[in-house]
Amino acid sequence: MTSKLPPSAANQLWGGRFASGPAAIMEQINASIGFDQKLAMQDIAGSKVHAAMLARQGIISTADAEAITAGLDRIAEEIAHGQFTFTTELEDIHMNVEARLAVLIGEPAGRLHTARSRNDQIATDFRLWVRDALDRLDGDLKALQGALIDQAERHAGTVMPGFTHLQSAQPVTFGHHLLAYVEMIGRDRSRARDARARLNECPLGSAALAGTSFPIDRDATATALGFARPTANSLDAVSDRDFALEYLALASIISVHLSRLAEEIVIWCCDRFRFVRLSDAYSTGSSIMPQKKNPDAAELVRAKTGRVIGALTGLLVVMKGLPLAYTKDTQEDKEPVFGADETLALCLAAMTGMVGDLQPETEVMRAAADAGYATATDLADWLVRAIGLPFRQAHHVTGRIVKLAEQQGCRLGDLALADLQAIEPRMTAGVFDVLTVEASVASRTSFGGTAPERVRAAVVAARERFL
Ligand code: ARG
Repeated sequence: MTSKLPPSAANQLWGGRFASGPAAIMEQINASIGFDQKLAMQDIAGSKVHAAMLARQGIISTADAEAITAGLDRIAEEIAHGQFTFTTELEDIHMNVEARLAVLIGEPAGRLHTARSRNDQIATDFRLWVRDALDRLDGDLKALQGALIDQAERHAGTVMPGFTHLQSAQPVTFGHHLLAYVEMIGRDRSRARDARARLNECPLGSAALAGTSFPIDRDATATALGFARPTANSLDAVSDRDFALEYLALASIISVHLSRLAEEIVIWCCDRFRFVRLSDAYSTGSSIMPQKKNPDAAELVRAKTGRVIGALTGLLVVMKGLPLAYTKDTQEDKEPVFGADETLALCLAAMTGMVGDLQPETEVMRAAADAGYATATDLADWLVRAIGLPFRQAHHVTGRIVKLAEQQGCRLGDLALADLQAIEPRMTAGVFDVLTVEASVASRTSFGGTAPERVRAAVVAARERFL
């Protein structure tokens, strides 16, 4: 089963020029099989398509191509069943597969590498992998949107304080707040689509860096692998890792969005807010303080953003000084991407679960919205509408009224009409209609606003746009 080299050989693939094998430490620093074995299926798919093309173009015989295909299928099965032994001696996924192919089918295996190089091979494999990752990511993002939209629908009319500077600003609805995240994630999904379209060109056939003298058909291999077209410049194709950087930039932005929501969840369920209750399923207790229920999942989602942004920064630094064309530096592209992918999948699953389980404490939220003079803007707007004050003047009058309420230790709606009239004589009892938090949110019917009827319509629209 093991793809072992004859012990004396310097290297099966380039041994001709070499008298001895690598130093142990060289093998260790050079080998990528520990992580690029994740690309096995992409590598095999690329090789099968390449072999078939070589045969169609008369570059290798049909019999050889058939033997290669059968051997590669068998290797895919061995790998799928955990029966394949990856070895560091064989450095990377390409050589592990090819060496095993040689064991399985003999001489024809040596013809597979005609008109290609590991440089265009890895560029192709990795693009295929990132493409799949983007597709998986889209599904995970959609699931989170679904959970947010369901909660938004349940709480289209649930009033909470809206904040600016984390100070009570104006009442909003919890549903409206959650739909803000649906928009963010919608943009993330659109970024993923853009990245996928740009990524979807096939480097295979660029060979080492300059193209090849064999009469290959790059359109055929590109199409067979689901790419829109072959890459246009061989030097660019073997050295470009923009697609990995874009993936990590996207992953970073998504992580930032998740982190912001995680931070809000932490705030919402802290003692002083108590806006939401986190389910037991997404909290932990304390080993010493029996009263505790901690939002660990939210905190970890917030924290793991660091890893993802670190991965982006790391790869940007790897790439920044690289001359054309391929250099081994780019082998360092995979672990950050694999790591970010794993982290993101975990965080998205945890966040989707948390959002689905969130129990808003609607009375607490409403009371908080009612407590912070959050309808002061409604009062100012009323002064504009009902008695024709310029907004600036209305703002000033309202400020004096808020100060009065503060002095009396009451809400705006609890003030006596006579007291209001002492500040602005044209005031009427009609003003009290706009001072409740319910009236305030209900009045904000402008497109994109927080009125419950708007939020219900936005829920319907979001389902149509995103789910
Ligand atoms: N393992 C290599 C990588 O990930 C594959 C390409 C190696 N090419 C080379 N010329 N050494 O980049």
